[in-house]
Amino acid sequence: MRNSYALVTGATSGIGLEISRDLAKRGYNLILIARTSDKLNVISKELIGKFNIKCDYFSSDLTKISAPNEIYDFTKSNNYNIDVLVNNAGYALPNAFHENSMEDEEKCLRVLGTSVIALTKKYINDMISNGGGKIMIVSSVAAFAPASSLQSLYGPVKTFMNRFSESLSFYNKYGITSTAVCPGYTVTNFHTASGVQKEMDSVPSFLKKSAKRIAQEGVDAMLKGKKVCVPTKTWKIIVFLLKVIPQSVFSLISGLLAPGRYDEV
Ligand SMILES: NC(=O)c1ccc[n+]([C@@H]2O[C@H](COP(=O)([O-])OP(=O)(O)OC[C@H]3O[C@@H](n4cnc5c(N)ncnc54)[C@H](OP(=O)(O)O)[C@@H]3O)[C@@H](O)[C@H]2O)c1
Repeated sequence: MRNSYALVTGATSGIGLEISRDLAKRGYNLILIARTSDKLNVISKELIGKFNIKCDYFSSDLTKISAPNEIYDFTKSNNYNIDVLVNNAGYALPNAFHENSMEDEEKCLRVLGTSVIALTKKYINDMISNGGGKIMIVSSVAAFAPASSLQSLYGPVKTFMNRFSESLSFYNKYGITSTAVCPGYTVTNFHTASGVQKEMDSVPSFLKKSAKRIAQEGVDAMLKGKKVCVPTKTWKIIVFLLKVIPQSVFSLISGLLAPGRYDEV
């Protein structure tokens, strides 16, 4: 019998944790990835106990160039077949672009971008041999939004990830689908970890959604093989408006609703 698993990066908190819980509830065996071993251990025990699935974990720092190979080698050596790959781990840099070191920018780009490509490159070959697979890339509404003075590279790399995910549709003929899930403001540890909790606190509550809801809608979309998913009606409307309203008007409204993001540097 195939030893089939879903692998989730950034599984110790926020959206990744809720995606892991959601997949476990649906009966998927799981491989959890993040840096913090203790949390991974506790979460894997929770999921095994609650949902009677198989679950293992691997502690890995995705800022390291060697991380994707090490993750792949771990799953291969344990004979875990990865049929579902969820690229979710992420954070953003708190300072203005000119204040961040190139080393920090590169580390962040590795987590949000290069590691996603490297993991997908590794597992897609196995998916082709196995006759199919599901890929999710947790992107962001920032992929569609006007440039922000905060986190200058965050929006651009999420746009890149959307385009990358879209380009994987050429693998549909092998039974492989890729879904870019693009959440708006979600209540997680992201804003604290990225040094922008103050800005997040000033965002009106109707724009803030729960990680559980984002995870449910994202997993549903991935299982249906949708190319792009913007979870929640509120954020679907905002993304629609982003496509029809001039960017200057949108930046003005966003500056009022979410102050700090469009300030002068
Ligand atoms: N929250 C939002 O408003 C929002 C909106 C749109 C998109 N997103 C996207 O959603 C994804 C998940 O973010 P979240 O909001 O759930 O944030 P979160 O609660 O801070 O969770 C981030 C996860 O990524 C892991 N992680 C961070 N750096 C890592 C590294 N160097 N190596 C390996 N794992 C790492 C963290 O685990 P460890 O610390 O244990 O390593 C944690 O499990 C990100 O891609 C983010 O860009 C978030």
